[in-house]
Parts: sequence; structure tokens; C-alpha cells
Amino acid sequence: AHPTRIAVTPGDGIGPEVMAEAIRCLEVLRAKHRLNLEWTRFPWPSHAWHQEHGVCWPQDALDQLREFDAILLGALGDPGPADDPERYLLPDSESLAPLLALRKGFDQWVCERPARLLKGARQYLADDRARDVDMLVIRENSEGEYVGQGGRLRKGTPDEVATQVEVFTYRATERIIRYGFEQARLRAEDRVRQSRTRTFQTHDGRVCESQVCLITKRNALGHWGDLYTEVFETVAREYPDVATHHELVDAACMKFVQSPWRFDVVVASNLQGDILTDLAAVLSGGMGVAPSCNLNPTDPTVPSMFEPTHGSAPDIAGQGIADPTAMLLTTARMLEWLARKDPALASAGRELFDAVAADLEQHGGTPRGTHDIGEAICKRLQP
Ligand code: IPM
Ligand code: MN
Repeated sequence: AHPTRIAVTPGDGIGPEVMAEAIRCLEVLRAKHRLNLEWTRFPWPSHAWHQEHGVCWPQDALDQLREFDAILLGALGDPGPADDPERYLLPDSESLAPLLALRKGFDQWVCERPARLLKGARQYLADDRARDVDMLVIRENSEGEYVGQGGRLRKGTPDEVATQVEVFTYRATERIIRYGFEQARLRAEDRVRQSRTRTFQTHDGRVCESQVCLITKRNALGHWGDLYTEVFETVAREYPDVATHHELVDAACMKFVQSPWRFDVVVASNLQGDILTDLAAVLSGGMGVAPSCNLNPTDPTVPSMFEPTHGSAPDIAGQGIADPTAMLLTTARMLEWLARKDPALASAGRELFDAVAADLEQHGGTPRGTHDIGEAICKRLQP
């Protein structure tokens, strides 16, 4: 059988540091279960590659990566030291362009960002019920506010006008909302298996075991807000077992802080999802523990991409203090995803998740270095 192949792209800043721990864990799992798993390391996309070649990655980068079953990405972006303007060369939009090009190039139309407060993770909210935060934010990842259309008229003059066009298609709206309902069902089934069921009320007083909350800004952005709402209501009819809810994005921000334990699956547009998932990351213990992935569930011939929600964190890069937990949870999700190709990877993914969770439960709150955390988790994985 062909091996499952992973393209490893550590990137910038803390990316290579947290990636090193992910690779160590993968090595342990591969040896222990004799997994048919291979990975290839790429020095791009990265700021370092840009410094040498004047571009963030080679011209045929997407073609090279297309051959792989998944991309495991550390973090991108490097503003350089603030006190050295000579090195401050690369505008953010340029160093991050590959990230958006990958999502677009492989049509990774789902961005999954779970926010579950694992035991031992830092609880930022004082309310005891915040311990039960367990939501999955699903961000539309292919269009919306991120289509990059528009421009600057009369640039550099006092009469300048910048436009940024948002595009929402029926096709992309329908698939992301349907994906949300499917995930809600799967999560309910999972909870039943783990005897930790939750209940959600529908508007007509029925009780369901899962919920999908749609986010829009329908009161001001009615064109796509109405499209989202209509599609949501239509798809929801096929899932009478899932409770539905609709929040305007500003109110959702408030409720994420006030009563986040009330949410299950949340479906949001590209930009609104981007913003909400930084907030959700804090509810789950902070950027250091927030996993993320960019999936293409419909085309098995292109790789999906797995990268933590956090960025390259230039302020702490090079010090060996970045928390690899988010990267390791992301790696666990990757293995679980790749089980579609090789079922043996499913249990490896679960094992990695359980080891990370157990480590957090035992040591969460104790200051430890990147390598110490990775080492402790590797020990738990060892046969
Ligand atoms: C994220 C990031 C990216 C995004 C940036 C770096 C372009 O914030 O993955 O959440 O906006 O999608
Ligand atoms: Mn973001």
C-alpha cells in the first residue's frame, strides 16, 4: 500500500519550535504502531526563504504540495525586530499570502476551530460554568470577505477610495451550513459514546442533543445575511434532531463571554469566523492550546492543511517557551482526518489527543518549556 504522505512546513517564528515536538510525537506513534506514514520537510513558505529568494515560496509550490495527503503547517509571518527597521522588510500581506493561496488553491472550504476547555487549561472566565465550554466554530474558508476583490481609487490622494468586495455564493453557503449540521450530529453521537450528553432547547420547546448556531450581521449586511438565513432554514429541515439558533455577530461576541457553555456548533462567514475564533481560543485556554484545520472534504485528490490558530508569535520566538499543545492537538486532528485513507491512523490520532489532554490535566498551569511539554507527551505515548 502507498504510504500516507505529509508535507511538513514549519514556517516562521515559533512555527519550527512547536513543529519539532509534533514530529517527535509522530515518530513515536509511527514506530509504536508501524504506521505507513512519511513526511517531507519544506523550508517554505517562510520569511527565511523570502530573504534568500525574494519570494515566499517557489513558483511551483502548489504543484509540489498537491502530491501530499496533508500539509502540517507551523506558523507564518515575521515582522522582524521592531528596533531594526532594516530587517522590517516584508509587509504582513506578503508573508501571509501563501496561507491564503493554499486555502484557495486546494479549495479548503472548511475551517474547523474547536474550542473546548480541557482540564488543566487556563480558565479565563470566573463563572464556574465556563469549565463546560465545548464548541466547534466552523468558519467558511473559501470566499466571503476574503475574496480579495476591490481596490484603491485615486491612491495616495485626499480623494482616495478603497473598496473591498464581499462575495457569497449559494453553493459555498449551502455546503458550509450542511457541514455544520453533519458535525453537530457527529458530536452528539460522540458525547453519547462518552456519556457526557448535553441538551439544547429548540424554539418550539423540543429538546435536542446538539445545536447549530448561525452567525450573521443580517440587520446591517442583509444581502448575504438573508442568503445565509434562508439556506440555514432550508438545510435545518433535514436535521430535525439538531436544535437551531441564530445570533448577530456582535451579540455573539457578548454571549461567547457571558454564557459560552450554551454553544455547540457555530457556523460563521470567513471574516466573522476569523474574529470569533480568536475569542473562542481564549475560552478554551488561550492561543497556546487552540487547534485549527483547513479541510477540503469533497476532493480527496488535494491535501487539507493543519495549522494551529496561533501565529508565529515573534515576541517569544527563539526562546523555547512557546506552548506546543495547539500544534499537537492539530496534529491529532490531522491523523484522525487521514484515517479516511488509512484507518490505522484513527487510533493514533486519538492516542495523541488523549496524551495531550492528560499532560494538560497533570501539568497545566506549571510553566514549562516547549521541549519539556513535547517530551512529557512523547513519554506518555511510548509503549
Ligand atoms: C487565521 C489568520 C489568517 C486569517 C491571517 C494570518 C491571514 O488570522 O488563520 O486566523 O485571517 O485567516
Ligand atoms: Mn485569525
